This record gives sequence, C-alpha cells and structure tokens, in this order.
Amino acid sequence: MQSAERRQAIIVLDFGSQYSRLITRRVRECHVYSELVAATTTLAELQRNPHLDIKGFILSGGPASVYDEHAPTCDPAILRSGLPVLGICYGMQLLAQQLGGRVAHTSGRREYGPATIEVAAEAAGDPQVFRIFAGIDGSAGGTEQAQTGAPEAERGQAEEEQTGRGEAGRGQASPVHLPAVAPLCLRVWMSHGDSVAKLPEGFSVLARTENNPVAAMANAQGMVGLQFHPEVTHTPRGKEIIRNFLFRICGCEPGWTVGSVIEEAIEQVRQRVGTSRVICGLSGGVDSAVTALLVHRAVGEQLTCVFVDTGCLRAGEREQVVETFSRALHIPLVVVDARQRFLARLAGVIDPERKRKIIGEEFIRVFEEEAARLDEQGGPISFLAQGTLYPDVIESTSHDTAATATRIKTHHNVGGLPEEMSLQLVEPLRVLFKDEVREIGLALGLPEEWVWRHPFPGPGLAIRVIGAVDEERLETLRAADAIVIEEIRRAGVYRELGQAFAVLTPLQSVGVMGDGRTYANVVAVRAVTTGDFMTADWARLSPELLARISHRIVNEVPGVNRVVYDITSKPPATIEWE
Ligand code: XMP
Repeated sequence: MQSAERRQAIIVLDFGSQYSRLITRRVRECHVYSELVAATTTLAELQRNPHLDIKGFILSGGPASVYDEHAPTCDPAILRSGLPVLGICYGMQLLAQQLGGRVAHTSGRREYGPATIEVAAEAAGDPQVFRIFAGIDGSAGGTEQAQTGAPEAERGQAEEEQTGRGEAGRGQASPVHLPAVAPLCLRVWMSHGDSVAKLPEGFSVLARTENNPVAAMANAQGMVGLQFHPEVTHTPRGKEIIRNFLFRICGCEPGWTVGSVIEEAIEQVRQRVGTSRVICGLSGGVDSAVTALLVHRAVGEQLTCVFVDTGCLRAGEREQVVETFSRALHIPLVVVDARQRFLARLAGVIDPERKRKIIGEEFIRVFEEEAARLDEQGGPISFLAQGTLYPDVIESTSHDTAATATRIKTHHNVGGLPEEMSLQLVEPLRVLFKDEVREIGLALGLPEEWVWRHPFPGPGLAIRVIGAVDEERLETLRAADAIVIEEIRRAGVYRELGQAFAVLTPLQSVGVMGDGRTYANVVAVRAVTTGDFMTADWARLSPELLARISHRIVNEVPGVNRVVYDITSKPPATIEWE
C-alpha cells in the first residue's frame, strides 16, 4: 500500500520536448503519480523529497542532438540507481550514449510524423528484455500486417517535434541486426534526426523501421529506449507501452486515484493547518472552488471564504457564488461589496495594463481589510488557501526552460500578496493538472455546471469593456455577454469551447431600427477552441447560432446596433481583447 506520506512516483526528466508534460499526464492516467522535473535535476535532489517513492524515470525527447556542444545530459547517478529508465527519442539517444553506445549523426533520411515499426516477438529471446512490448499483439487497433517497410515518413505535421539535426542512417552500416521472425507492425509517431548506431553493452534491439535499425532497445534491468513517441495519440498502442513500463518493468501499483488524491490532500491540509483559521479567496472559477472544498473537508469551520464583488463580474455571478457556497455546500462565505471603490479607481482609465494593476492592487487591499476584520471577530487567521495548479508550478513551457531550474510562481493566483500579511500558504492543488482538479470537484459535489465553467480573467469585464469603464458600459456588456453564453449553452456547444464571451468595443456605428437612424455601440463576440490557452483557434460556430446571438443582442440590449464575430486565432491575437 502507498501511504499518504510516501507515494509511488515516476519522474519525467524534461529535455525540452513539446510532449514532456504529456508524458506526465499519460502516466497519471494510468493512476501512477508522475512529476516533471528539469533535466538537470540530480538523483540526490529527488531523493531528498520524503514524499516520493521513486519507481522509475522517463527521459523525455528534446530538440538537441547528443553531439551538440551544450547538449543536456542526465545525472549519471540516475542511470546507475538500478531503477528502470525509459528514454524517449532524445532520451533514448542519451541513454545509449551515456551507457557506452553510439548515436549516428550521419546523412540519410530523417523520420518525422507517422511511421511503422517492426517489432519482433522473439527479438530478444528473453521475456524480461521484451517486457515493454509484452501483451501487445495484432488483435487491437494500431497494428498493421507485416510489410516490406515503413511508409514514407512525412514532414511538416502540426505535432512534429523539431529534433532534427543529424539524419537517421539509411543504408548505413550497422552492427545491430534483428532476428528473422514474423514481425508485428505498429503504427507510431516518429520525430527524430539522430539514431542509435551501436547498442550499449547488454542491450537488445526490439524493433526497427525501414530507415532506422534501432527503433526500440532494452536490457534485462529495465532500461528501455524508444525512438518514437508512445505518449502521443498518433501512436495508437502507446498507452499499452507506457502501462508496460509502469506495471511490468517498474512494478508500480495503480494507486493514484481521485479518492486517494482527495484523502491525501485532506490529510496534508489538516496536518499543516492544525487548529488555525484559514481564509480562501473565491474567484468563481473551478480552482478556487475545489481548493475551498478540500480545505473545508479538512478543517471545517476553521475556513472562511471571501468573495469580492469588484463590479466587473458577469450577470448573476455573485448570486451563483452565494447560492453554491453558502446554500448548497454550506461553506461560510463573506461577500464583500467593493463595487464603488473599484469603479471609482477605474474611472477614465483606458490603458489595459493600468486597469489590471489597479484591480490587482485594490483586490489585495480589500482582502487585507477583510482578513483583519475576520481576525478581530474570531481569532487570528494564519493561512491563505489558494488554487495554484501543477502547470503553474512547473515551467510555463518546457521549451524555454528545459535544463533550467524549476520556476515556481507561488503567488500566481493572488498577484503578489504583501509580506506584512504574514499568511502562510495552503495549496492543495499544487500537484494537480486542471482535469484532475475537475474530477476532484465532481467527486466532492461541486455542481457539474461549475466544474465545466470557462475560465474568467481576474480583472473581469473591465478588460472586455475596451477603453474607459463605467457602470453603464459594464451593464451593456453584461447583458450582451449573458445572451452569448445562454445561446451557446442552448446550442449544446459550451463544453466544446475553451472560452466564449462578448466584448464591448469603443466603436459606434450607424444603423437603422424601425424608421429611425441609430448611432450605437458595436459588440464583438469571441469564441475559441483551445487545449491549454497558450494557443487557440476561433470557433467555427454555426451561422444559425451566430445569427441568433446577433439578433438577440441588437434587439434586447439597449445601445447596441451591430454585432461582429472575431475570426482571429492566437497567435497572432490573444484570447482577450485587452
Ligand atoms: P490571453 O488573452 O492572454 O488569455 O490569450 C489567456 C487566458 O488567460 C486569461 N487571462 C487572464 N486571467 N488575469 C487572469 O486571471 C488576467 O489579467 C488575464 N488576462 C487573460 C484569459 O481569459 C484566457 O483564459
């Protein structure tokens, strides 16, 4: 059994692949805890964490070539630890090189995109070495009949990883040979230039492609190299391969489940907080809501939630928060009506960054005042609970920061709390990804509608009223925005979208209504599809849905006579207009 204090973990060393985070996600989907760490992290550093029972390592892909002058390497102690190691793409080449093999850096053909590997069941003649492909046969999807070779590798795929420096050695003399057995052919996703030309001592070849004699290698101790990416969906049997690594090679137990995560988080909060009081700022989003639920489960009435009405909220938002938290979830909630002070400070401000700054500062001031008031009423508050997620903790993008120290944005959610508040942080979501948080929210009874809410920016509608913000313009936007959301929900596409909202532009345009000329506001509608909000595409909403939205806004919202739809992706635009 895994105890709450020490959990089985697979450590993913990040060599800069765009898929590094995905590897961590895939491992967790198999109910094994996984952390992504910088490639430079040493075994000694990892072993200092008393909560981790490390069962194995995965070396990610990456854009470098092992021959580059400053090519990142892995702490040799990790390879000597006796723990299993799976090297993927660059990780495989590194494994080969650091263990005494050789990586080819020759002219030939690179492989990008879909490819077929030939796996030979008896390749190693040793089931211990073959564990990574154990149980994978031709009976499910993602396999092909044996054929004469891999299909032409394709370049220019959207998901291609820019690893190509050297070239895989086509026709290159190789000291490694695959036994002549009836091959099992698997479709995989390749993305590499270099390839392994000489195996390290004790390794066997498990698979090849037409262009690459070593598409997979392994030894009996549980060291495995895969030239392809098992973590991407374009490798249909990839999940089975990862499962084999976790369960057959590392001997993991699938103990990382929603139930265990909740139990563990509650226990940790309880230990940390003791009998002290905790304050939690609710934003109306899923992260702060789940944080509040977990802390409430842990310490009950020692928690007080604070919701600040900045005057820049969406229609019905305040009522929804009150309804859900105090009435449905029975969590003590203080609602601060700070509309006047926020709007007074925002009056006449046009610059988006100034708006953000003003709102951030004012929010902190209100929060401090409330904490002081609560202190007086019921004893000192020592802890602040906030919904920092794992992606906030690990590097914002692995490409920028591979092989550099992990950047930790402790105050990400509160925009920098003043030191003198001297509140200690409680962050029960610190090890979780967004969809794990959603699952926990559902398990803890957060209404489904809340769990699947689109994100809403901290500065709220103030950055969606373009130009100066006042109560009248906020009211216009609120009414238009409510129609956008209502129609999108009614059309059943809310969950497919990353975000959807209205923007009140600073434009006035001429129109005709009844017999009269109008000169009124232009509202823009923005709807995007996105995975991680770093990039996004404009949503192809149906013309009928757009027509309904437009018709209702101009008919129901006073002061609006024109609706436009934003058809710009991110990049080059951003999701928000300001
Ligand atoms: P952009 O506009 O940068 O937005 O493409 C990406 C995501 O971040 C949200 N966003 C914010 N969230 N404070 C926040 O809490 C902000 O100042 C802010 N600006 C943008 C945006 O809604 C989207 O989800």
